[in-house]
Amino acid sequence: MKITVIGLGYVGAVAASGLAAAGHDVLGIDIDRQRVDALQSGVAPVYEFGLNERVAAGRREGNLRFLHRDEVAEPLGKAAVITTGTPPADSGAVDLNQVRAALEWIKARQPDDLVVVMKSTVPPGAGQRFLQQGLQQSGIRYAANPEFLREGRALADWDAPDRIVVGVEPGDDQALAVVQGMHAGIDAPYLVTDITSAEMVKYASNAFLATRISFINEIASLCDRVGASIDAVSDGLALDGRTGVRIHAGVGYGGSCFPKDVRALDYLALTSGVNVELLQSVINVNNRQRLSPLYALREQFNGGLAGLRVGVLGLAFKPDTDDVRDAPSLALIQALVDEGVAVQAFDPQARETAGRRLPATVRMVDNPVQACDQAQAVALLTEWREIVEADWPGIAGKMRPPRFVFDGRNALDAGEMRRLGFDYVGVGRRAL
Ligand SMILES: NC(=O)c1ccc[n+]([C@@H]2O[C@H](COP(=O)([O-])OP(=O)(O)OC[C@H]3O[C@@H](n4cnc5c(N)ncnc54)[C@H](O)[C@@H]3O)[C@@H](O)[C@H]2O)c1
Repeated sequence: MKITVIGLGYVGAVAASGLAAAGHDVLGIDIDRQRVDALQSGVAPVYEFGLNERVAAGRREGNLRFLHRDEVAEPLGKAAVITTGTPPADSGAVDLNQVRAALEWIKARQPDDLVVVMKSTVPPGAGQRFLQQGLQQSGIRYAANPEFLREGRALADWDAPDRIVVGVEPGDDQALAVVQGMHAGIDAPYLVTDITSAEMVKYASNAFLATRISFINEIASLCDRVGASIDAVSDGLALDGRTGVRIHAGVGYGGSCFPKDVRALDYLALTSGVNVELLQSVINVNNRQRLSPLYALREQFNGGLAGLRVGVLGLAFKPDTDDVRDAPSLALIQALVDEGVAVQAFDPQARETAGRRLPATVRMVDNPVQACDQAQAVALLTEWREIVEADWPGIAGKMRPPRFVFDGRNALDAGEMRRLGFDYVGVGRRAL
């Protein structure tokens, strides 16, 4: 099936190369010239394990092509998959400008027999509005097909999603068939529903996952106060069949999805006149949690942080990605710098992406040992293997007393760290 993917960021690059790997004839387009040039030479715009290889394979096979939007002179095929960004607007609403621009561009081409497949995360109700505001008159069909892939394991998630959710107009079997054709060969449960419910599944999923994180982080704070261990509590919770997986306490959620999607759902509730207090709490807990290393440092150093040297290990919002959008590291480092702390930071992949967003005074270094050199304290924010398995005895030798370690992901062995001479603190682990 010929498919055009519009927007070649994290989701678009994975989708385009994944659809090509499944045998479709794929054209990927973007308005970012650099991105298109890079992809044309087989280089993905983001770091994601296996993505470069998959892009290169598609180019070699000849069924994966990339063009700048202005160079497209051919029909779009059976499906135009929209994967443009939906960043937060200042008001708290979702900025739909990229999506609207993509829709206008599609409409202007007056395509025959085309289904727009919306993979971008758009607020519940948006798809219906797109249809009413011109798509329907243009004879273009529409399917909401939210994307659930996780950065860091995006290719595996694309190949084996735990569900495929499709929202179409009642009785629009043609739009449904196109989405099913796109995913032919993928063995996953389908949920076919109306457009608005499909959109809501995506927001509800992210809000639920974010809620679990804020929940466990509040329990971790309580654990610290009463002398319980969050590790034991998380184990105990996970043994309850109704709970599902183990939930990890830490410095909070980040990334391009959870923060913006929870805020967007909260804004939707506000503008819909519905009181959803829980979401506000989830956001507030997370904002505080990102700064938990700052609070711990103040406690450790009796408030005065000016002149301290602090190593920050991990800048990406999670391991195996270079994405720092809304990462806890950005909020924490800005606060540390504001208080006069000298920050030395290391991340295996996010040096460049973070460097663009951090104060110029932050020193980016090449490995964990350098980040901790002459530092009195270190904050572990991303549990990269390179960080968890770093040369901790070597780090102990390089740091200055009190060798304070704030393990923001509870990724290190508390006992071992103390044996090495660190003053170790985790999240909800004071009892350890
Ligand atoms: N990143 C994730 O892990 C993830 C997971 C699931 C869903 N999503 C959702 O998928 C969407 C895309 O996310 P992303 O992280 O890939 O975004 P991104 O910002 O990395 O990429 C968006 C791309 O769209 C391009 N673009 C913007 N306007 C365009 C236009 N009019 N025509 C063509 N290209 C255009 C940009 O140049 C950019 O390359 C968002 O709605 C996001 O919420 C993201």
